[in-house]
Amino acid sequence: MTDGSKGLNYQEEGRRVLTAFYGALNSLRLYPLENDAVQQALDELHALVTRILTIEGDVEIRIVGDFFFLNETRLRLDLSNFATFGSFSRALQDHGIGAVEIRAGVQRSEWAPFVSILLRKPHAEDPFEAFMDRLAAAPVQHIELRPEKDVQEPEKDEEALLAAKRTYAQSVQVAKEVLGDVRLGKAVNVRKVKRSVQGIVDQVLSNESSMITMTTLRDFDEYTFTHCVNVCIFSVVMGQRLGLDKHQLYELGLGALFHDIGKQLVSRDIINKPGGLTDDEWVELKEHTTEGLLQLFRLHGFVDVPYRQMLMAYEHHMKIDLTGYPQNTRPRELSLFSRVVAVADAFDAATSVRSYQYNPWPPDAVLREMRDNPKRGFDPLLVKALITATGVYPIGTLVILDSHEMAVVSDVNKDPNLLHRPRVKIISDPLGVPLVEPITLDLARDDPATGRPARTIIKTTDPQKYGIQVSDYLT
Ligand SMILES: [Fe+2]
Ligand SMILES: [Fe+2]
Repeated sequence: MTDGSKGLNYQEEGRRVLTAFYGALNSLRLYPLENDAVQQALDELHALVTRILTIEGDVEIRIVGDFFFLNETRLRLDLSNFATFGSFSRALQDHGIGAVEIRAGVQRSEWAPFVSILLRKPHAEDPFEAFMDRLAAAPVQHIELRPEKDVQEPEKDEEALLAAKRTYAQSVQVAKEVLGDVRLGKAVNVRKVKRSVQGIVDQVLSNESSMITMTTLRDFDEYTFTHCVNVCIFSVVMGQRLGLDKHQLYELGLGALFHDIGKQLVSRDIINKPGGLTDDEWVELKEHTTEGLLQLFRLHGFVDVPYRQMLMAYEHHMKIDLTGYPQNTRPRELSLFSRVVAVADAFDAATSVRSYQYNPWPPDAVLREMRDNPKRGFDPLLVKALITATGVYPIGTLVILDSHEMAVVSDVNKDPNLLHRPRVKIISDPLGVPLVEPITLDLARDDPATGRPARTIIKTTDPQKYGIQVSDYLT
């Protein structure tokens, strides 16, 4: 990232520009042009953009996948501004716009016509062409647009998936080696783990949805290791929504990867036991939290004592009301990192096929339960942070559409109001016959002919029931 070059705080300025755009759109949607609120919003937008122009020469706002870029810097969005930006990106994308470029010399008078055209109903057939025609007829000389198709997709294209896969596979391998060493009581190469976590953080920051897609690569035999890596990915994804900086994300990811390190000292028979555990076996399994804390304390290779990570190992089953384990005699508040990893851990565990859980819940039901049932003991705000990242139907969910076609969710919708309308790959026709080539469909796009959603999800279903490996369609 190029934060701070030439004294410009991109994150700050970028968010302000987006907020101003949203303000102008919203006020002009509600009031006539001459209204004070509208004029103020346009003044604000013009002032902000002009200031950046004097430093930068030009300003480009681009939407790539789930992200906004101001020139070359990706803007970090947090929970408080997520909704605002979601509806701004929606407004652009409805017109097929992928990037707005503003050149030096832009006049205050150019904003009103531009924003007004954005507010007009998008043309059903070719929204971008129609927008350009309308813009050409307006007194706007310094605002240029690029179509969505020119700037979209790099996130999910082959290369991005490949990069994500490489990072994922390497991390699973490292987790396997390191946890194996812990089990054997051998010295652990902590540096290797750190590098691996850095790789995950970098990939999540640049390539989030591909990285989330990797968590659907669930390999029964490798569960212990893929679980650690998945928990690391989901934790970093959530941490990013919470506005953590890169170093904090890395600390969080490290603890997430190590959260179950104590399980290496629990007998394999218990870890792999199909069916329920006896009381004694439960007691032993629960020890993995305390054991984890001790193991991390003993690990060499940390410059400082890894207190945060020790807490995460110790507290991740404690629940926010402390009804979990280990039991507490005194009141305490779980650390933020522990609460994050608890949510990531539970989500991954509940949606995975493991030896002792043959029927995982559908991911949407897991998220709902975690959010709505206080007895589960998760921080509801953090569950919401996860939902904004994964959507109501997380990537990899198998769904039935109202057309009776079957589809796999392939990408989340970035607009928080449309989290229930993801992008999907249709894999079978209404009669259940598999399609030779899956068809990608964005459920958030209305059918131009009817103005209504082309398809909606009526329910989720179990891939195992149909012998489907969802990751085959995604990775
Ligand atoms: Fe655990
Ligand atoms: Fe776990």
